[in-house]
Amino acid sequence: MYHDFNYESTLASSLRAQWQLDDVLREDQELDFSRNFMPESLARTAAVPGLNAFEQRILNQISAHQYLSIFGIVEEAILPFLMDHARPHLLNDDWRIRALLNFAGEEAKHIHLFKRYHAAFVRGFPVECEVIGPSEAIGAEILRHDPLAVGLVILMIEWMTQQHYLGSIRDDQDLDPLFKSLMKFHWMEEAQHAKLDTLIVDVLAEGRTEEQISDAIDEFFEIGEFLDNGLKAQASYNLDALEKVIGRKVENRADIEAQQHQAARWTYVGSGMVHERFKATLLNISANAAARIAEAAPVFA
Ligand SMILES: [Fe+2]
Ligand SMILES: [Fe+2]
Repeated sequence: MYHDFNYESTLASSLRAQWQLDDVLREDQELDFSRNFMPESLARTAAVPGLNAFEQRILNQISAHQYLSIFGIVEEAILPFLMDHARPHLLNDDWRIRALLNFAGEEAKHIHLFKRYHAAFVRGFPVECEVIGPSEAIGAEILRHDPLAVGLVILMIEWMTQQHYLGSIRDDQDLDPLFKSLMKFHWMEEAQHAKLDTLIVDVLAEGRTEEQISDAIDEFFEIGEFLDNGLKAQASYNLDALEKVIGRKVENRADIEAQQHQAARWTYVGSGMVHERFKATLLNISANAAARIAEAAPVFA
Protein backbone atom coordinates (compact mmCIF):
# COMPACT_ATOMS: atom_id res chain seq x y z
CA MET A 1 0.00 0.00 0.00
CA TYR A 2 1.24 3.50 -0.80
CA HIS A 3 0.10 4.86 2.61
CA ASP A 4 -0.56 3.58 6.13
CA PHE A 5 -3.76 5.54 6.83
CA ASN A 6 -6.63 3.81 8.62
CA TYR A 7 -9.93 4.86 10.16
CA GLU A 8 -9.12 3.94 13.76
CA SER A 9 -5.87 5.86 14.15
CA THR A 10 -7.13 8.82 12.08
CA LEU A 11 -10.19 9.12 14.31
CA ALA A 12 -7.92 8.99 17.37
CA SER A 13 -5.72 11.84 16.04
CA SER A 14 -8.83 13.81 15.05
CA LEU A 15 -10.22 13.59 18.57
CA ARG A 16 -6.86 14.71 20.00
CA ALA A 17 -6.55 17.68 17.59
CA GLN A 18 -10.14 18.92 17.96
CA TRP A 19 -10.84 22.54 18.88
CA GLN A 20 -13.89 24.76 19.49
CA LEU A 21 -14.81 27.86 17.49
CA ASP A 22 -13.98 30.16 20.41
CA ASP A 23 -10.43 28.74 20.52
CA VAL A 24 -9.90 30.27 17.07
CA LEU A 25 -12.15 33.35 16.88
CA ARG A 26 -14.71 34.51 19.42
CA GLU A 27 -17.82 36.17 18.06
CA ASP A 28 -16.78 39.55 19.49
CA GLN A 29 -13.17 39.46 18.26
CA GLU A 30 -12.04 41.93 15.62
CA LEU A 31 -9.52 41.40 12.83
CA ASP A 32 -6.57 43.81 12.66
CA PHE A 33 -7.12 45.72 9.43
CA SER A 34 -3.77 47.51 9.80
CA ARG A 35 -2.10 44.25 8.72
CA ASN A 36 -2.11 41.84 5.83
CA PHE A 37 -4.31 38.76 6.26
CA MET A 38 -3.02 36.44 3.56
CA PRO A 39 0.50 35.09 3.12
CA GLU A 40 2.17 36.63 0.10
CA SER A 41 2.85 33.14 -1.29
CA LEU A 42 -0.92 32.85 -1.87
CA ALA A 43 -2.21 36.42 -2.35
CA ARG A 44 0.71 37.72 -4.46
CA THR A 45 -0.51 41.26 -3.76
CA ALA A 46 2.96 42.71 -3.11
CA ALA A 47 3.78 41.75 -6.69
CA VAL A 48 0.94 43.84 -8.17
CA PRO A 49 2.40 46.80 -10.09
CA GLY A 50 1.08 50.33 -9.75
CA LEU A 51 -0.34 50.05 -6.23
CA ASN A 52 1.07 51.79 -3.17
CA ALA A 53 1.58 49.91 0.12
CA PHE A 54 -1.88 50.82 1.46
CA GLU A 55 -3.57 49.69 -1.75
CA GLN A 56 -1.63 46.44 -1.77
CA ARG A 57 -2.79 45.74 1.77
CA ILE A 58 -6.42 46.43 0.82
CA LEU A 59 -6.10 43.98 -2.08
CA ASN A 60 -4.48 41.46 0.26
CA GLN A 61 -7.48 41.76 2.58
CA ILE A 62 -9.88 41.37 -0.35
CA SER A 63 -7.95 38.22 -1.24
CA ALA A 64 -8.59 37.04 2.35
CA HIS A 65 -12.29 37.74 1.88
CA GLN A 66 -12.08 35.56 -1.21
CA TYR A 67 -10.42 32.83 0.89
CA LEU A 68 -13.26 32.86 3.40
CA SER A 69 -15.86 32.84 0.64
CA ILE A 70 -14.30 30.15 -1.58
CA PHE A 71 -13.66 27.83 1.36
CA GLY A 72 -17.19 28.43 2.60
CA ILE A 73 -18.50 27.40 -0.82
CA VAL A 74 -16.34 24.28 -1.29
CA GLU A 75 -16.83 23.03 2.26
CA GLU A 76 -20.58 23.31 1.77
CA ALA A 77 -20.17 20.92 -1.17
CA ILE A 78 -17.90 18.55 0.80
CA LEU A 79 -20.49 18.00 3.52
CA PRO A 80 -23.21 16.33 1.36
CA PHE A 81 -20.53 14.34 -0.47
CA LEU A 82 -19.41 12.89 2.87
CA MET A 83 -22.95 12.17 4.02
CA ASP A 84 -23.70 10.35 0.75
CA HIS A 85 -20.51 8.34 1.03
CA ALA A 86 -21.13 7.41 4.68
CA ARG A 87 -24.81 6.52 4.33
CA PRO A 88 -24.46 3.02 2.75
CA HIS A 89 -21.85 2.00 5.35
CA LEU A 90 -23.65 2.97 8.55
CA LEU A 91 -23.64 -0.56 9.96
CA ASN A 92 -20.50 -1.99 8.39
CA ASP A 93 -17.53 -0.84 10.41
CA ASP A 94 -17.59 1.09 13.68
CA TRP A 95 -14.25 2.91 13.23
CA ARG A 96 -15.00 3.83 9.66
CA ILE A 97 -18.45 5.27 10.30
CA ARG A 98 -17.28 7.18 13.38
CA ALA A 99 -14.31 8.59 11.48
CA LEU A 100 -16.51 9.66 8.53
CA LEU A 101 -19.20 11.24 10.70
CA ASN A 102 -16.57 13.03 12.74
CA PHE A 103 -15.03 14.28 9.48
CA ALA A 104 -18.47 15.58 8.40
CA GLY A 105 -19.00 17.21 11.81
CA GLU A 106 -15.65 18.97 11.55
CA GLU A 107 -16.44 20.28 8.07
CA ALA A 108 -19.77 21.63 9.37
CA LYS A 109 -17.76 23.36 12.12
CA HIS A 110 -15.35 24.78 9.53
CA ILE A 111 -18.28 26.22 7.53
CA HIS A 112 -19.42 27.84 10.79
CA LEU A 113 -15.90 29.15 11.47
CA PHE A 114 -15.50 30.62 7.97
CA LYS A 115 -18.87 32.38 8.43
CA ARG A 116 -17.68 33.82 11.75
CA TYR A 117 -14.51 35.17 10.12
CA HIS A 118 -16.60 36.50 7.26
CA ALA A 119 -18.84 38.38 9.68
CA ALA A 120 -15.75 39.89 11.37
CA PHE A 121 -14.40 40.86 7.96
CA VAL A 122 -17.65 42.57 6.97
CA ARG A 123 -17.71 44.49 10.28
CA GLY A 124 -14.25 45.94 9.68
CA PHE A 125 -14.00 46.43 5.91
CA PRO A 126 -15.21 49.70 4.36
CA VAL A 127 -17.08 48.31 1.31
CA GLU A 128 -19.06 45.21 0.42
CA CYS A 129 -17.07 42.62 -1.55
CA GLU A 130 -19.11 40.71 -4.09
CA VAL A 131 -18.74 36.92 -4.27
CA ILE A 132 -19.53 34.37 -7.00
CA GLY A 133 -22.51 32.18 -6.29
CA PRO A 134 -24.97 31.22 -5.07
CA SER A 135 -23.04 28.56 -3.17
CA GLU A 136 -25.89 26.02 -3.53
CA ALA A 137 -25.67 26.23 -7.33
CA ILE A 138 -21.87 25.88 -7.29
CA GLY A 139 -22.15 22.88 -4.95
CA ALA A 140 -24.82 21.24 -7.12
CA GLU A 141 -22.69 21.67 -10.24
CA ILE A 142 -19.66 20.06 -8.54
CA LEU A 143 -21.68 17.21 -7.02
CA ARG A 144 -23.46 16.18 -10.23
CA HIS A 145 -20.17 14.59 -11.38
CA ASP A 146 -18.82 11.06 -10.93
CA PRO A 147 -18.11 10.58 -7.17
CA LEU A 148 -14.51 9.59 -7.99
CA ALA A 149 -13.97 12.92 -9.77
CA VAL A 150 -15.57 14.79 -6.86
CA GLY A 151 -13.56 12.76 -4.34
CA LEU A 152 -10.33 13.68 -6.14
CA VAL A 153 -11.22 17.38 -6.21
CA ILE A 154 -11.95 17.24 -2.48
CA LEU A 155 -8.72 15.34 -1.81
CA MET A 156 -6.83 18.03 -3.71
CA ILE A 157 -8.51 20.68 -1.53
CA GLU A 158 -7.71 18.83 1.71
CA TRP A 159 -4.02 18.56 0.84
CA MET A 160 -3.84 22.18 -0.33
CA THR A 161 -4.82 23.45 3.14
CA GLN A 162 -1.65 21.75 4.42
CA GLN A 163 0.39 23.73 1.94
CA HIS A 164 -1.48 26.96 2.83
CA TYR A 165 -0.54 26.90 6.50
CA LEU A 166 3.05 25.93 5.81
CA GLY A 167 3.18 28.75 3.26
CA SER A 168 1.84 31.22 5.80
CA ILE A 169 4.33 30.37 8.54
CA ARG A 170 7.24 30.29 6.12
CA ASP A 171 6.44 33.88 5.11
CA ASP A 172 8.20 36.10 7.63
CA GLN A 173 5.76 38.96 7.19
CA ASP A 174 3.48 40.67 9.63
CA LEU A 175 0.15 38.89 9.19
CA ASP A 176 -2.89 39.44 11.38
CA PRO A 177 -2.46 36.74 14.08
CA LEU A 178 -6.16 35.86 13.92
CA PHE A 179 -6.00 35.13 10.24
CA LYS A 180 -2.87 33.06 10.79
CA SER A 181 -4.83 31.14 13.44
CA LEU A 182 -7.54 30.34 10.93
CA MET A 183 -4.96 28.72 8.67
CA LYS A 184 -3.36 26.91 11.59
CA PHE A 185 -6.51 25.46 13.14
CA HIS A 186 -7.90 24.50 9.77
CA TRP A 187 -4.58 22.79 8.93
CA MET A 188 -4.73 20.78 12.19
CA GLU A 189 -8.05 19.13 11.35
CA GLU A 190 -7.59 18.97 7.60
CA ALA A 191 -4.50 16.81 8.10
CA GLN A 192 -6.87 14.04 9.22
CA HIS A 193 -9.45 14.83 6.52
CA ALA A 194 -6.83 14.39 3.84
CA LYS A 195 -6.09 10.88 5.16
CA LEU A 196 -9.78 9.94 5.32
CA ASP A 197 -10.36 11.33 1.88
CA THR A 198 -7.47 9.23 0.59
CA LEU A 199 -9.29 6.16 1.95
CA ILE A 200 -12.55 7.34 0.33
CA VAL A 201 -10.88 7.83 -3.05
CA ASP A 202 -9.18 4.41 -2.81
CA VAL A 203 -12.63 2.82 -2.36
CA LEU A 204 -14.22 4.83 -5.18
CA ALA A 205 -11.44 3.85 -7.59
CA GLU A 206 -11.46 0.17 -6.66
CA GLY A 207 -12.38 -2.24 -9.46
CA ARG A 208 -12.57 0.43 -12.16
CA THR A 209 -11.17 -0.19 -15.61
CA GLU A 210 -8.57 2.15 -17.07
CA GLU A 211 -11.29 3.60 -19.30
CA GLN A 212 -13.64 4.29 -16.39
CA ILE A 213 -10.81 6.00 -14.54
CA SER A 214 -10.00 8.05 -17.59
CA ASP A 215 -13.66 9.16 -17.76
CA ALA A 216 -13.50 10.21 -14.11
CA ILE A 217 -10.35 12.23 -14.83
CA ASP A 218 -12.22 13.96 -17.69
CA GLU A 219 -14.85 14.91 -15.12
CA PHE A 220 -12.16 16.03 -12.67
CA PHE A 221 -11.00 18.46 -15.35
CA GLU A 222 -14.59 19.58 -15.98
CA ILE A 223 -14.97 20.48 -12.31
CA GLY A 224 -11.55 22.14 -12.43
CA GLU A 225 -12.56 24.28 -15.41
CA PHE A 226 -15.83 25.21 -13.74
CA LEU A 227 -13.97 26.30 -10.58
CA ASP A 228 -11.39 28.15 -12.65
CA ASN A 229 -14.09 30.16 -14.42
CA GLY A 230 -15.46 31.04 -10.99
CA LEU A 231 -12.02 32.21 -9.85
CA LYS A 232 -11.70 34.36 -12.97
CA ALA A 233 -15.06 36.02 -12.27
CA GLN A 234 -14.05 36.44 -8.63
CA ALA A 235 -10.79 38.19 -9.62
CA SER A 236 -12.90 40.80 -11.40
CA TYR A 237 -15.18 41.28 -8.37
CA ASN A 238 -12.06 41.68 -6.23
CA LEU A 239 -10.78 44.50 -8.45
CA ASP A 240 -14.21 46.17 -8.28
CA ALA A 241 -13.97 46.13 -4.48
CA LEU A 242 -10.40 47.50 -4.57
CA GLU A 243 -11.43 50.40 -6.82
CA LYS A 244 -14.35 51.19 -4.54
CA VAL A 245 -12.08 51.40 -1.48
CA ILE A 246 -9.28 53.43 -3.08
CA GLY A 247 -11.68 55.67 -5.00
CA ARG A 248 -9.98 55.38 -8.38
CA LYS A 249 -9.75 53.09 -11.38
CA VAL A 250 -6.50 51.09 -11.41
CA GLU A 251 -4.25 51.26 -14.46
CA ASN A 252 -3.63 48.00 -16.34
CA ARG A 253 -6.73 46.50 -14.81
CA ALA A 254 -6.73 43.54 -17.22
CA ASP A 255 -3.12 42.69 -16.27
CA ILE A 256 -3.83 42.93 -12.54
CA GLU A 257 -6.95 40.82 -12.91
CA ALA A 258 -5.00 38.16 -14.79
CA GLN A 259 -2.21 38.22 -12.18
CA GLN A 260 -4.71 37.88 -9.31
CA HIS A 261 -6.60 35.15 -11.14
CA GLN A 262 -3.30 33.27 -11.44
CA ALA A 263 -2.68 33.71 -7.69
CA ALA A 264 -6.12 32.21 -7.02
CA ARG A 265 -5.42 29.34 -9.41
CA TRP A 266 -2.36 28.45 -7.35
CA THR A 267 -4.18 28.92 -4.03
CA TYR A 268 -7.33 26.92 -4.80
CA VAL A 269 -6.17 24.38 -7.38
CA GLY A 270 -2.43 24.26 -8.12
CA SER A 271 -1.15 24.01 -4.55
CA GLY A 272 -3.21 20.83 -4.12
CA MET A 273 -2.54 19.46 -7.58
CA VAL A 274 1.22 19.25 -7.03
CA HIS A 275 1.02 17.99 -3.43
CA GLU A 276 3.10 14.81 -3.14
CA ARG A 277 0.36 12.93 -1.30
CA PHE A 278 -2.25 13.84 -3.91
CA LYS A 279 0.11 12.71 -6.64
CA ALA A 280 0.70 9.42 -4.78
CA THR A 281 -3.05 8.70 -4.71
CA LEU A 282 -3.31 9.44 -8.43
CA LEU A 283 -0.36 7.22 -9.21
CA ASN A 284 -1.92 4.40 -7.22
CA ILE A 285 -5.14 4.72 -9.27
CA SER A 286 -3.51 5.00 -12.69
CA ALA A 287 -0.17 6.15 -14.09
CA ASN A 288 -2.08 7.73 -16.95
CA ALA A 289 -4.34 9.72 -14.58
CA ALA A 290 -1.26 10.97 -12.69
CA ALA A 291 0.44 11.96 -15.94
CA ARG A 292 -2.62 13.86 -17.23
CA ILE A 293 -2.96 15.88 -14.06
CA ALA A 294 0.80 16.54 -13.85
CA GLU A 295 0.64 17.85 -17.40
CA ALA A 296 -2.13 20.33 -16.50
CA ALA A 297 -0.48 21.51 -13.25
CA PRO A 298 1.75 24.29 -14.68
CA VAL A 299 -1.36 26.22 -15.78
CA PHE A 300 -2.24 26.53 -12.09
CA ALA A 301 1.23 27.44 -10.79
FE1 LIG B 1 -12.35 22.23 6.32
FE1 LIG C 1 -11.69 19.21 5.16
